[in-house]
Amino acid sequence: EKGGHRHWMAKEIAEQPAVLDQALQHYIRDADLVMPNDAVDFAKVNRVVMVACGTAYYACLVAKYWIERLANLPVEVDVASEFRYREPPIPEGTLAVFVSQSGETADTLAALNYCKGKCPIVAVVNVEGSSIARAADVVLPILAGREIGVASTKAFTCQLAVLAVLALKAARDRGTLTAEQMDAHLDTLTRIPALIAQALNIEDELRDIARDLSEARDILFLGRGAMYPLALEGALKLKEISYIHAEGYASGELKHGPIALVDDSVPVIVFAPTDPLFGKTVSNMQEVMARGGKVVLVSDTQGLSSQRTTWHTAQMPDVAELWAPILYAVPAQLLAYHTAIAKGTDVDQPRNLAKSVTVE
Ligand code: M6R
Repeated sequence: EKGGHRHWMAKEIAEQPAVLDQALQHYIRDADLVMPNDAVDFAKVNRVVMVACGTAYYACLVAKYWIERLANLPVEVDVASEFRYREPPIPEGTLAVFVSQSGETADTLAALNYCKGKCPIVAVVNVEGSSIARAADVVLPILAGREIGVASTKAFTCQLAVLAVLALKAARDRGTLTAEQMDAHLDTLTRIPALIAQALNIEDELRDIARDLSEARDILFLGRGAMYPLALEGALKLKEISYIHAEGYASGELKHGPIALVDDSVPVIVFAPTDPLFGKTVSNMQEVMARGGKVVLVSDTQGLSSQRTTWHTAQMPDVAELWAPILYAVPAQLLAYHTAIAKGTDVDQPRNLAKSVTVE
């Protein structure tokens, strides 16, 4: 039933090229965006709020970079347990987006109910008949198929794919991209599943790195821009299933505190595809190495060629800068998975966690 895999999590990681392809084909046909007829008109929206928990929250943080950049539309992101009790103002022109794999997360549902009647509501869910889907005005299924492993993997990348499409739809409604730019983004997005398949091929290298990581007590994850939420996701995934203490930080925050933790016992995992901010991340890495920190650099050929003194490297395929977070989710997942295997923990049923958090 696990398709020859040892764990559901491994199966679900491996399924990503196929399910992502399916999700993208649902929303992109004949090189054009296909959204439900009643999908919201972003030309009438002047602000987006996105609300979720855990991994779904990190997907929203990535989407903030995309929607702001592509559609020039301000986005606020909040964890559902804070949003629901803060009872924030919902001014005219707001669109609310709720993201949930299960569609049953209690805090996310309560946050949605708070917005009900105040603004249009979009739900991005995996389970189409779920409570969150039923309460929304527009439902965008992520089509990941049933996810059983407690650590969310394929749902995260499918959430990102659907949110990428939503960002492009926002850009189209608002006329913020030329036809050529839109075509180029659609084209690069539809190539992501094949790149994910390539990224899965570096599993052996990641397993070796994970063996070393499994000896650490604390691990830091760093990223800039849309890679910052990936750092948060990498840290969450690792702590959920390996029980190693891990924290994700925006690279630029390093010297505002966390660098005090760095010594030769602390691995620092850096997600840094070549992009305009790469040089800045390299200088953060050098600060870590100057204090004995053990850097694991996850980057592409060009990014890795400039760095020779890191502890470990993982070489990723080249990818369009904007969509890199979808691809870099794969090493984040595999590092967590193999670290947990090396530690001998229960990958699919980590202690104290439930797949769906239906009570507060
Ligand atoms: O079903 P949901 O997407 O609403 O669940 C949200 C979180 O509980 C979930 O993403 C959790 O953080 C995962 N265990 C992460 O791997």
